[in-house]
Amino acid sequence: MVHATAFLLVLSLAVVAPVLSTRKVTAGLGCAGQGGQGLHCSTGDKPLSPQCVLTGRWTNDLGSNMTIMAVNAKGEFLGSYHTAVTVTGNDIKVSPLQGSQHRTNENSQATFGFTVNWSFSDSVTVFTGQCFVDETGKEVLKTMWLLRSHVDSIKDDWTATRVGVNVFTRLRSKKE
Ligand code: BTN
Repeated sequence: MVHATAFLLVLSLAVVAPVLSTRKVTAGLGCAGQGGQGLHCSTGDKPLSPQCVLTGRWTNDLGSNMTIMAVNAKGEFLGSYHTAVTVTGNDIKVSPLQGSQHRTNENSQATFGFTVNWSFSDSVTVFTGQCFVDETGKEVLKTMWLLRSHVDSIKDDWTATRVGVNVFTRLRSKKE
């Protein structure tokens, strides 16, 4: 009898504990509200979705779009960048990017950096930033960039670097 009671107690703990821990994540650290930590967020009956994962399509405040491919185990990634603007008179072409992110934990609000080697100009841009989940549960990449343009002479070096900020949000397909 004592064994049966102990067994039932262990069984009920095994069933109840996972439910309680799931509730803690979605209610305490969910997408909305303070302290969004880039964990898994749920809305209503929808399944939990990972947040602050760089992989995917992003657009920024200038109307530029970029696609980041899978992030590997070392935090490295490749992608492509379609800028909406250029300081040159050249025709804009989609350009390759490569970067890396910190991976303290799969869904933390990681810091990252990437370089775009422009395929239609002699310039290079480096971006550095961090992924955040804002108060509405939306992922936002807050970045700063340095754009190095090619100049013909060392005398012109001082003219060659521009600096700015870009804010990226996720581009979603129409199905989502
Ligand atoms: C060039 O004009 O030589 C290359 C294109 C530079 C585009 C810059 S990079 C920083 C800023 N953010 C963008 O999305 N586009 C511009």
